[in-house]
Amino acid sequence: MTDGQAVPQVDANSPAPAGPCLFVVFGATGDLTKRKLMPSLYNLAQGGHLSENFAVIGVAFDELSTDEFRRRMTEEDVQYQSNKIDPAVLERFASRMHYVKGDFHDPDLYRRLGETISQVDHECQTGGNCLFYLAISPTLFGEVVRQLGAAGLTREGAPPAGSAATDMPAHGWRRVIVEKPFGRDLESAAALNRELGSVLDESQIYRIDHYLGKETVQNILVFRFANGIFEPIWNHRYIDHVRITVAESLGVEERGGYYDHSGALRDMIPNHLFQLVAMVGMESPISFDADAVRDEKAKVLRAIHPLAPEDVLQNAVRGQYGAGKIGDRQIIPYRSAPQVAPDSHTETFVALRLMIDNWRWAGVPFYLRTGKCLPERVTEVVIQFKRAPFSLFRGTPVEHLAANQLVLRIQPDEGISLRFAAKLPGLEVRTGGVNMDFSYEDYFGGTTMTGYETLIYDCMIGDATLFQRDDFVMAGWSVVQPVIDVWQSLPPRDFPNYTAGTWGPPAAEKLWAAGRNF
Ligand code: BG6
Repeated sequence: MTDGQAVPQVDANSPAPAGPCLFVVFGATGDLTKRKLMPSLYNLAQGGHLSENFAVIGVAFDELSTDEFRRRMTEEDVQYQSNKIDPAVLERFASRMHYVKGDFHDPDLYRRLGETISQVDHECQTGGNCLFYLAISPTLFGEVVRQLGAAGLTREGAPPAGSAATDMPAHGWRRVIVEKPFGRDLESAAALNRELGSVLDESQIYRIDHYLGKETVQNILVFRFANGIFEPIWNHRYIDHVRITVAESLGVEERGGYYDHSGALRDMIPNHLFQLVAMVGMESPISFDADAVRDEKAKVLRAIHPLAPEDVLQNAVRGQYGAGKIGDRQIIPYRSAPQVAPDSHTETFVALRLMIDNWRWAGVPFYLRTGKCLPERVTEVVIQFKRAPFSLFRGTPVEHLAANQLVLRIQPDEGISLRFAAKLPGLEVRTGGVNMDFSYEDYFGGTTMTGYETLIYDCMIGDATLFQRDDFVMAGWSVVQPVIDVWQSLPPRDFPNYTAGTWGPPAAEKLWAAGRNF
């Protein structure tokens, strides 16, 4: 710290509360609602980021009264909340909750929902603004949006005078948040985009990727474009390669039913990992507007060199974990997990090597890996720079110079470090690697946010910067489709091929080793 300045400069300005809004959550009794959505809404309420004219309508199949729903949501909020609960805030928040029971396929549900929206809108003056959050199975996304449309609930603005809909409230904005996975391949994603597009304008669709709610992911853009010193060296002249790891030490746990039909590639690559690739690889946008940022991100994915089938064999590795031990946890093989086929061919690990065909990145490989039951939970981006062009230290113990690395630590130990060589104290010239380190925790304290707060707030104020536009989604699926095709036509013969608690199968170690600092 220089100039005796002990406290970092933090912008203490808090954003204004979002405008009036009705938050309608489909899947109100599900896991996502209790673990993330309600705690996030509570955090927004506690931080003063919600309007006085805010209300929640939960929609689900369970038989519950509004009172029971309120009780359940508040109990769960306490259970899944990492912030200290203020009982007065919680009570106020609960008093704005309502519940509508129904079958998502039944048009009558949407008629009753429309009535409840009118009634709550009237009581709470939410301005007819509705955010529909689809925290439901992806197989229902199209159906729910179609039904919302048919019931006239996605129409924005006042109903046309004299139309049959004049008995409905004057609508404000209508937005829909769609959870991942967005399709399971190029074709199904295109079909889902068409389905949503036949009811909603693109500006009403908010495709969520919770990675974009992480402070450290958002910080990649700030790091690159709010500092003058990194951008000039952020290209193929100075960077040797980029490695992105999203490793999880947990296995598939109770999610076998979903995961066995998805696998690591679909579950993680076109969304979370490609967000990181895009943030690291994009050009500077002309402004911080949603479309300016999203234009540049989509361009990166479109510039990824298409993989021909023979490229897939060399540049993509899949794995499935077998039994093993992580810390003192004994891990059962993936194939023995609940709801997983005993002869499953689903991959729980994937590593890829991709090239980006543009002037900035020509010749710079991007290595990606992600998987379950790996030795530790860590998400990081390693930018490895080219070595010094010439070793000044020939004939000394330092003939071999390690390359500099910039490590963007996304989680869990959030921060950024720059690794470089320094002279070890002593009579001889010897070098060792040292780190210049920035830690979020040291500077700003730990965070107790879920990551969904920013995303929900942004949707309420109509800022789509942190949401995926249709072209990004399609470009992502285009990159992985050849891998899906090749893997489908050549079922793996060696699964399980890595021991839980190791860094994937040997072929992945080999691919990864090509980009290691040695
Ligand atoms: C989800 C995947 O989108 O992201 C999960 O479906 C994965 O399989 C999770 O575990 C990882 O998220 P995080 O925030 O824990 O890195």
